[in-house]
Amino acid sequence: MTTPSAPREQWGSKLGFILAAAGSAIGLGNIWKFPYVVGENGGSAFIIIYLLCTAIIGLPVLVGEILIGRTTQRNPVGAFRALSGSRFWAGVGGMGVAAGFLILSFYAVIAGWSVGYIYESFSGDLFKYADPTKAAVHFEELTHDVVWIIGYFGFFMILTMGLVYAGVQKGIERGSKIMMPVLFLLLIFVMIRGITMEGSGAGLEFLLKPDWSHVSGQTFLIALGQAFFTLSMGMGAMLTYGSYMSKKDSVPSSALQILLLDTAIALVAGIAIFTSVFATGLDAAAGPGLIFHTLPVVFMKMPGGEIFGPIFFILLSIAALTSAISLLEVITAYFVDEKGWTRHRAVIVFGSVTFLIGIPSALSFNVLSDTTIFGLNFFGLVDYLTANIMLPLGGLLIAVFIAYVWKFDKALIELKNGAERLFNKNPLLITLWQIFIKFFAPVLIFLVLLHSTGILDVLGL
Ligand code: TRP
Repeated sequence: MTTPSAPREQWGSKLGFILAAAGSAIGLGNIWKFPYVVGENGGSAFIIIYLLCTAIIGLPVLVGEILIGRTTQRNPVGAFRALSGSRFWAGVGGMGVAAGFLILSFYAVIAGWSVGYIYESFSGDLFKYADPTKAAVHFEELTHDVVWIIGYFGFFMILTMGLVYAGVQKGIERGSKIMMPVLFLLLIFVMIRGITMEGSGAGLEFLLKPDWSHVSGQTFLIALGQAFFTLSMGMGAMLTYGSYMSKKDSVPSSALQILLLDTAIALVAGIAIFTSVFATGLDAAAGPGLIFHTLPVVFMKMPGGEIFGPIFFILLSIAALTSAISLLEVITAYFVDEKGWTRHRAVIVFGSVTFLIGIPSALSFNVLSDTTIFGLNFFGLVDYLTANIMLPLGGLLIAVFIAYVWKFDKALIELKNGAERLFNKNPLLITLWQIFIKFFAPVLIFLVLLHSTGILDVLGL
């Protein structure tokens, strides 16, 4: 273990941490992924399960993850090792680093689409398709073009590498501070346009009237995976950001603010997309292309759409960028802290390797679209393995680690730093966190993972 001689960089302020962590959480997961998994999994019943996962499992584990980072001031591997001295737990941190790497490899592909759509909307190509099915066809044409998809993917990776290269404060904090509120405002405009479209009622019904007949063990797993994915938790990104946080700041209230912001954005995006999907007769279960089929039509039907369209895709790309830097930051922090690499070398090596690993994901939308493993193409497989398996498993291990390895009482002493006022006013919160981190979170994650394997069905449970 290396002890860095220079003092570790810290966020400029408490707001710096919240903005950067919210910048990590808010991204394609809210605006691209949330709507399409809701569409594929039957609407409001899925949303209810997702909200429950966020509140019951997401919040207590998020608090724990940030706390591990703030306490140790280290990357995931170093953090687990410092608190336990065990190689097994250092390996758990290593699994997180690997998961982040894999997530970035497909995340940047989709972010590339968003960047590509900036050009499409400036060139006016996006607004040629009054007929919604034509917008969908245009999307298929673009993603079938190998040069288009890999080109924008590579371009986005270079942007991400540039920002991580610039270092913690300069790159990440400043980048996150600027654009998020504007994006939120724009989403609200799109939502209002969606709601006021003729036929949007069917979309609202889809979002509000639960249909439990589609719910299965898989639904729970996907909802849990989505909760982890959208909050950037379970693999050490929030841990790493927490490691730059000051002990004077409150972990629980920061975690709650991030969670509320992130959830609000996902719900607004969901309403914006489904009112429009139903009003235009598009397919709610269209999969990863859903927002790219829908939004061009919305912008066309919106006064000032030619201006809002490009601004929207610029902001979506920036939101994706602040998420992508958090993914690359984890692996960079690991190689800088643990292996003594320079920041520049880590960024260049791992940015490039991520690009190579992402190529089969990019090709899953064209030349490799028929190549499937367990019924999923390469993109689908990496997404499923990371979001639905590795992240919840990481969350389970974080909870078990805090409760039984680090030990709850020691963790609590750390948690109280910066949160004295909160706990003095609401001592019950401590008991709640204790119950959730020791029992509910780990047991529920375990059951969901087990249920998804079908074992519980076999046992008749
Ligand atoms: N949460 C981000 C989003 O919703 C994606 C992301 C960034 C992420 N860092 C992560 C997901 C770490 C899982 C783990 O777009």
